[in-house]
Amino acid sequence: MRVTYAPNTKQLLRIINPFLHQKPNLSNSGKENALFCMQSVVNLIGMMSMDIEYIKENYIFETLNENHDLDDFECESEDLTNFLKNDALNQQDLNLSLTHLVICDGVIVGYVSILTDSMKLKILEDETVKKEIRAELNITENNEMPAIKIGRFAIDKEYAHKGLGKHVFRNVLLSILDISQNIVGLRFITVDAYASAFWFYVDKNNFKYRKNDQKLVDNMDEIIKIDSERSFTLYKDLKSI
Ligand SMILES: CC(C)(COP(=O)(O)OP(=O)(O)OC[C@H]1O[C@@H](n2cnc3c(N)ncnc32)[C@H](O)[C@@H]1OP(=O)(O)O)[C@@H](O)C(=O)NCCC(=O)NCCS
Repeated sequence: MRVTYAPNTKQLLRIINPFLHQKPNLSNSGKENALFCMQSVVNLIGMMSMDIEYIKENYIFETLNENHDLDDFECESEDLTNFLKNDALNQQDLNLSLTHLVICDGVIVGYVSILTDSMKLKILEDETVKKEIRAELNITENNEMPAIKIGRFAIDKEYAHKGLGKHVFRNVLLSILDISQNIVGLRFITVDAYASAFWFYVDKNNFKYRKNDQKLVDNMDEIIKIDSERSFTLYKDLKSI
């Protein structure tokens, strides 16, 4: 007699568990779990075949919640990987920052954490811009201006340095611009950038650094070698987008 083994959906869930990006709920009905399995198989196929162009066309932003399985995410910074896995949800629960996952076919390919901020005009390094803004807004150097901070931004190392970060970041900037035009008064975007990502923001995304950091910037290549996670406050005037 020939015996064929056909796993039920709960057994299948356990087998494919490593490929799930939402945690399975074993108390769900058979139908719900079957749907879950199908979604996970789709994820698995996606994980094996996703290329950057496909991701660029298909990724979505999803606000982090307790059902997201973050185990597989790993970026080049251990600190940023650990933040997502250990702190992001807690910070969100405390209303300190909101984390948006970048997801393609169920795979978490990146994330961005955002919070509000304020900025004093006196940190602007460009005297001409500073004068223009002072005249435009009729404020002193010590006035605080409304800002939004990109607290953390990372792309999974499997997909980094292939043009995805630039694409995602552009969409983040456009969303912030939209907020500034439709929801709340907002003039600057700030970011606490690691030295290793300094040129990504300054060269590729036109962020400015603080005037007091000029000497450090002159030695940035050396700093990247010895202390790549040294943090620099950068800013971008939303009027320049
Ligand atoms: C920084 C990071 C988000 C950039 O995303 P990415 O997908 O690697 O970036 P892209 O491939 O889209 O690069 C876009 C451009 O920036 C440049 N770039 C990317 N990372 C760079 C870096 N660390 N230094 C200098 N230039 C960089 C690329 O050369 C590319 O230039 P091009 O448009 O002329 O080809 C990503 O590398 C990452 O997660 N790094 C580790 C975590 C980190 O440092 N985050 C920032 C701290 S908040």
